[in-house]
Amino acid sequence: MSSKPSNPVDLQDCRNAIAAAGRCDEGEALARLVARAGLSADDRLQITEHARRLVARVRADTKPGLMEVFLAEYGLSTREGVALMCLAEALLRVPDAPTIDALIEDKIAPSEWGKHLGRSSSSLVNASTWALMLTGKVLDDDEEGGIAGLLRGAVKRLGEPVIRIAVGRAMRELGRQFVLGRSIEEAMENAAASEPRGLTYSYDMLGEEALTEAAARRYHLAYSDAITALAKTADGDDVTVNPGISVKLSALHPRFEASQRGPVMGDLVERVLSLALLAKSAGIGFNVDAEEADRLDLSLDVIEAVFGHPSLAGWEGFGVVVQTYGPRAAPILDWLHALAERCDRRMMVRLVKGAYWDTEIKRAQTLGLARFPVFTRKAATDVSFIACARHLFALTDRLYPQFATHNAHSVAAILHMAQGRAAFEFQRLHGMGEALYDIVARTEDTTCRVYAPVGAHADLLAYLVRRLLENGANSSFVNQIVDEGVPLAHVAADPFETMANWGGVAANPGITRPSDLFAPRRRNSGGWDLTDAPTLARIDAARAPFRDHVWMAVPLIAGGPLANRKKD
Ligand code: FAD
Ligand code: 2OP
Repeated sequence: MSSKPSNPVDLQDCRNAIAAAGRCDEGEALARLVARAGLSADDRLQITEHARRLVARVRADTKPGLMEVFLAEYGLSTREGVALMCLAEALLRVPDAPTIDALIEDKIAPSEWGKHLGRSSSSLVNASTWALMLTGKVLDDDEEGGIAGLLRGAVKRLGEPVIRIAVGRAMRELGRQFVLGRSIEEAMENAAASEPRGLTYSYDMLGEEALTEAAARRYHLAYSDAITALAKTADGDDVTVNPGISVKLSALHPRFEASQRGPVMGDLVERVLSLALLAKSAGIGFNVDAEEADRLDLSLDVIEAVFGHPSLAGWEGFGVVVQTYGPRAAPILDWLHALAERCDRRMMVRLVKGAYWDTEIKRAQTLGLARFPVFTRKAATDVSFIACARHLFALTDRLYPQFATHNAHSVAAILHMAQGRAAFEFQRLHGMGEALYDIVARTEDTTCRVYAPVGAHADLLAYLVRRLLENGANSSFVNQIVDEGVPLAHVAADPFETMANWGGVAANPGITRPSDLFAPRRRNSGGWDLTDAPTLARIDAARAPFRDHVWMAVPLIAGGPLANRKKD
């Protein structure tokens, strides 16, 4: 069953529990979460039946959006889909036009685009298929001879910049689905049209991973301007009904990483505090997004310093995101509760599954880490989300729950556990989950807030790639709901049952362990996670005896050291 920590809880004890949870075996962590969720077989049946009804209604009532149709055709289960995701992901880092051309040739040319032609119900997706097919034909080096071959050769020579522009434009079109406006004013105007439908917004000024101080300042300014603009529309007395803003810490400091703790705790804390104070004056919510797992510890330090600042006393608009795809989520909720208790005020908590899953898996593999920082089965993350939601409902004296998901089963589970409680909200991303929440709004007494990215295309790509990877996976709810070939029972499956069917074996054998990356040729070398406090402490302890040690080098003759000999 869910448990409220026995108070008073020491913040450092909570941090130790977070670190311990990070070292926990996946199966053990999951067993604890199943117990924490405290759902009986009957509860689970009711939830699953509700989820099936929701899925059936979404399928019957609505037409999927462009992104959903695109991903249904080009999901990660097709070679072409993988090529597109690789291309989009790589475009993030490519500095110059010739390299982009080479990349397009590498990713687009070898695939069989013709197979997708005319299969989609969307004319835009079919048009993209034509473009990609032509691109593929133009760039394919295996040319047959004759006039066609000559022509193709000519287009290839003349055409790469054109193709580069076309691919960029296709990405832009797709990206438009996810952005509410290019400026905060435009976004607020677009949002005003939805407000009569009872939606509220949390605006996100696009931009993350600032690489220079100038970029960090630019993002800081964009957030400040946005908060100032939003102040005009924040007319409710209660911050939970007003709009909000979501910030990424990596946007506000060029070296937001564990090894730079000193500067981060100075400059970044100051910047975040200045924005939080502005949000407090504006009467809007201020939310700190969650990013990569290796930044979690440092994020908690920043959050503690900002939230605990006396200038924010009495304000209940500060919010934090918790990612349930990692085993540290439940103790993080305890820590946030203890922090809110210590500061004697409430905090908002947005529960998400987590948007960096692919990155986390790849990083752990390439670094040769001892374990993944995230679960390796989708159903495990779903179970964790439900168990943490149950836990969050037990901490509402200090924490205001915000459940961010597009998955009908997760929504049904929240509604079941809420038992008529009104003091929570759902959240969805702009461009996703509209149909589901339209139905929920009509049948339940709940509110929904939309996370609304704002900004220019140049700052969108990282966000867009996360959406494509997340929704392109065939295990993703958004991907399954548009595919009529996937039966209702599967789309709305009970993740507890799915996990039980695997006989409690939590680790996914389909995902190569970091140690086995080069198997069977050789074992991968073990790496050090230099962002993990216990690992750093172990390295420090091993180095400590040598701090004052003076090394002496002398020649060895016949196995013995030669006594000091004066140089001739
Ligand atoms: P589902 O399809 O049910 O779940 C997909 C998720 O399952 C994946 O994203 C991943 O987390 C997980 N998953 C997929 N495959 C596996 C696997 N093999 N093993 C284990 N787990 C797996 N994310 C952040 O990281 N930080 C944020 O600050 C943040 N803010 C958000 C704000 C809002 C309002 C919303 C709606 C989302 C936010 N997200 C954030 C994104 C969120 O994490 C994803 O949208 C979410 O994971 C998708 O979950 P779902 O329930 O909608 O879909
Ligand atoms: C992301 O940027 C929504 O914060 C989440 O992917």
